Amino acid sequence: MTDLHGRRIVLGVTGGIAAYKAIELCRRLVDAGAHVAPVLTEGALHFVGRTTFSALASEPAQVSLWDEESPIPHTRLGQGADLILVAPATARALAAYAHGLSDDLLTATLIATRAPVIVCPAMHTEMWEHPSVQDNLRLLRERGVVVVPPAEGRLAGGDVGTGRLAEPEIILDAVHHVLADTRRDLAGLRVLVTAGGTREPIDSVRVITNRSSGKQGHAVAAEAAGRGAEVTLVTTVDRPAPVGATVIRVSTAAEMEAAVMPLAAQQDVIVMAAAVADFRPAMVAARKLKKDEFGDGGTPQIVLEPTHDFLVDLGASKPSGQVLVGFAAETDDVIDNARAKLARKRLDLIVANDVGAARCGFEHDTNAVVLIGADGLHQDVPLTDKRSVARALLDAVVELRSTP
Ligand code: CTP
Repeated sequence: MTDLHGRRIVLGVTGGIAAYKAIELCRRLVDAGAHVAPVLTEGALHFVGRTTFSALASEPAQVSLWDEESPIPHTRLGQGADLILVAPATARALAAYAHGLSDDLLTATLIATRAPVIVCPAMHTEMWEHPSVQDNLRLLRERGVVVVPPAEGRLAGGDVGTGRLAEPEIILDAVHHVLADTRRDLAGLRVLVTAGGTREPIDSVRVITNRSSGKQGHAVAAEAAGRGAEVTLVTTVDRPAPVGATVIRVSTAAEMEAAVMPLAAQQDVIVMAAAVADFRPAMVAARKLKKDEFGDGGTPQIVLEPTHDFLVDLGASKPSGQVLVGFAAETDDVIDNARAKLARKRLDLIVANDVGAARCGFEHDTNAVVLIGADGLHQDVPLTDKRSVARALLDAVVELRSTP
């Protein structure tokens, strides 16, 4: 169990019948040594008293953005927190958080924080299963929020089903787990990550692209941000980006190169997770090509030209101390090909990714890789979620930085 002594936890309580269980949670967190700052929504006050929390917690419970002497309590609470725990989290609270509607103190605090966040949804089964709730949770998970799912059992009004707030033991386990995991070992470092497949235009409506979803690159960016890095994410995909990251959206290999190169020299770590096109159409028609331009049954001949491999440039101009990481998406001779790329591009580390293997690589939520280092590292990361692959990758980066 992690030591909770001195850890600052903002306990968000929203308006559901399970709010009474947050009283027990508050007491147990305080007993474990945590500094607990309760933030209740107006809805929560229909179910539990502010005084109860003020009496049990480490500081008075707060409800409003406006009732404190200090003018900006949400930033104070958010900046000072080691963790924000929302239990119970109603469908409304999840929606407000997912969409940035900071109209109460709790949502404003959630949006103003860089600390890890755990949400513990509790609601009726019909609401829990509604696509809007599930979509919001997916969005939050993608941003690195930890979701402690509800349990099955008796609900308000005598109904039975999934939606009961998870038991306090399960929630406390999650708190211990998340706080044990909050390493700040990348604090103060600049980390640039590229993600997604590039899209190379053929004409004004058609592109040549690849199956990269950007999920692995976005997971690396989220993990790096969670560990305190100043993250720049250069991405081709429109998926949620980690809180606090600077996001640069690009489409083609040339745009990605133009975004990355001017920033490269200032980076402590560069992770090139993007699947950059090796070839692009040599001529791009400014308008849509029409079938009848190619005669009856004729087809266009798309002539390709190579793109510029800017990872080679990054390797050649790497400042001392910078860690440069490439990805090798392969289907054959995975390790040998990856090793060859590591040497040819003068990388410190390469992530060998067998994109032909089951549940691995492009489009999947899971991945299995081998981390190969210029220093001789050969580490298998067996099939797991992409965030865990990101964690192993950044652990290897930290290790590399600590060895001269
Ligand atoms: N890369 C790059 N610029 C390119 C092509 C690739 O920066 N024009 C980077 C990728 O982001 C990746 C690494 O180089 O980190 C390896 O890319 P990959 O396509 O696997 O390798 P290639 O060098 O293209 O080799 P091959 O075509 O033989 O697979």
